Amino acid sequence: MSESVFPVSPSVAEKSLLTNEQYQSLYQESIDNPEQFWAEQAKRLNWFTPFDKIKNTSYQPNQVSINWFEGGELNASVNCIDRHLPQKANQTALIWEGDEPTQDQKVTYQQLHDEVAKLANGLRKLGVGKGDTVAIYMPMICEAVYIMLACARIGAVHSVIFGGFSPNAIADRIVNCNAKLIVTADEGKRGGRSIPLKQNVDEALARKDVTTIEHCLVFKHLSSQINWDDKLDIWAHELTHDMPAVCEPEVMKSEDPLFILYTSGSTGQPKGLLHTTAGYLLYSALTHKYVFDYQEGDIYWCGADVGWITGHSYIVYGPLANGATQVIFEGIPTYPTASRIGDVVDKHQVNILYTAPTAIRALMAKGDEAYATNKRTSLRILGSVGEPINPEAWEWYYKNIGNSQCPIVDTWWQTETGGIMITPLPGATDLKPGSATRPFFGIKPALVNSDGRILEGEASGNLAILDSWPGQARTIYGDHERFEQTYFSTYKNMYFTGDGARRDKDGYYWITGRVDDVLNVSGHRLGTAEIESSLVAHTSIAEAAVVGYPHDIKGQAIYAYITPVEGVEMTDELIKQIRDWVKTDLSPIACPDKIQWALGLPKTRSGKIMRRILRKIATNEHDQLGDTSTLADPSVVDDLIKNCKN
Ligand code: PRX
Repeated sequence: MSESVFPVSPSVAEKSLLTNEQYQSLYQESIDNPEQFWAEQAKRLNWFTPFDKIKNTSYQPNQVSINWFEGGELNASVNCIDRHLPQKANQTALIWEGDEPTQDQKVTYQQLHDEVAKLANGLRKLGVGKGDTVAIYMPMICEAVYIMLACARIGAVHSVIFGGFSPNAIADRIVNCNAKLIVTADEGKRGGRSIPLKQNVDEALARKDVTTIEHCLVFKHLSSQINWDDKLDIWAHELTHDMPAVCEPEVMKSEDPLFILYTSGSTGQPKGLLHTTAGYLLYSALTHKYVFDYQEGDIYWCGADVGWITGHSYIVYGPLANGATQVIFEGIPTYPTASRIGDVVDKHQVNILYTAPTAIRALMAKGDEAYATNKRTSLRILGSVGEPINPEAWEWYYKNIGNSQCPIVDTWWQTETGGIMITPLPGATDLKPGSATRPFFGIKPALVNSDGRILEGEASGNLAILDSWPGQARTIYGDHERFEQTYFSTYKNMYFTGDGARRDKDGYYWITGRVDDVLNVSGHRLGTAEIESSLVAHTSIAEAAVVGYPHDIKGQAIYAYITPVEGVEMTDELIKQIRDWVKTDLSPIACPDKIQWALGLPKTRSGKIMRRILRKIATNEHDQLGDTSTLADPSVVDDLIKNCKN
């Protein structure tokens, strides 16, 4: 692992919000006096009613409960829009960049306000109110931001479903969160290809167990031909046509739910993490400001999708709470060419760029195409998120996208954490390529060994967090027991992240990746269990086991071992059918890269699949299988090695 150091340059330090000394003293204060620290930070928000208790949290077994700023009342959309209007009504809030380089649109804070108010009034007219759940399945257009904020305005809980998910996955999420309304667009566009969003929703709603949806609200984006059901479907522009551009915000308690967002775990179906209003909003705003060193006038661009937590915290809530001007992008980094990111940076004079290692590696693979024809001199800060960034990709990003002038903030965090947890701060932290460096304010990371002992100094172990922070998810929607079990039962009185990490002599953290059965494919988090359950739903498959293996661009790729039902022969045609099945059943991102026909899987005598062995076979480490004597039938291993696809 590279240990080269990139010290904070004097010119960066001079322009940044915080120095190293300031970081250290604020960090210490946030740990020594968390209540005082967070009470002070909470002044960043506009409150209808001040809170009377700052922190009321417990990680005790069977009593996990997380509450911040109790007694307080506020509204997230007011904090993201209304309060900026006196000074910023005419400032651009959103710069939309379409899939085609010729398409763009600017939206001021006043326009954002008006669009959100009209939609919020429209939602109320449809009978959606405080506490109702609204599923959102949208392309990356401004309307995705409007509808999320419109929900927040009336106290409805949004649950955004990533536009890359298939009808079955949409239906599962609607059923789980009891959504009353689903919001979509006719079609989306990515990399020149159309995404049939409304059609996918139609198919999801056709599933018999989807019973809670009263209406489907549709935004017209590409004027595509779509099926229409007069009783169910409503055009957004028709709904909002006569609506006033003012809308009284709902008064929300600090701990009232803001949104549910599904993410994958190591077992079972995806879990709906529930985030609440005040703590989440404050944490996303504070991290956005200091991690990206956001200063008035900066143009900020986060390349994520609103279907993931990064889009929630660092496109919608954090930047807008800070009154930022930001680019939102419908397309992909390699369309029409690999110069697109740099071209968009030049076109909109972007100062801060936040993207994922997988995008960087995809550009790297194209030689100098990404940077030969653009300048990117407006850039001041680069960010990375979603998976470990390998030092080669880090240095390529630094040199070729950032012209060796911009610090890279490698931000480690999760859907569950709500905001960035371990990260450099641009003017404060010397950088080491591949390391997420140091904890953010209020975060107490710990490395723990398999016995639950906290390791000191230089060490490697499982990453846990010792105390609560305001942005933390409060529960898994409808299943608090699973929440406790997943995050608080592995180590007593700690939040367990599911990641492994190393701490070096300078106290810097190096995230090594998941230690559970969760994969990270191109920065997308996927549970092996969900892919397996999709595979076994195919009529030819009796049993399936999925593991990850390293991939140059995606970080990890998916390797599936499949046992056929009796009498089924493996053919290329069948493999193709299975791959297509997973794409339509779950998502194209969950489609296995390699499929191996396995006559048997390595199981213990109690019937548990030993994935450790399958991982080693898929990564071609056939000489490191370890002890196989505990297997019920050790001979299956030879067959698996013989037929390995890697
Ligand atoms: O394994 C870690 C990895 O992504 C996981 C969280 O995925 P998700 O909830 O989808 O959120 C992604 C965006 C925040 C983590 O458990 N991960 C995320 N950021 C990093 C990372 N691994 C290493 N370095 C990072 N900067």
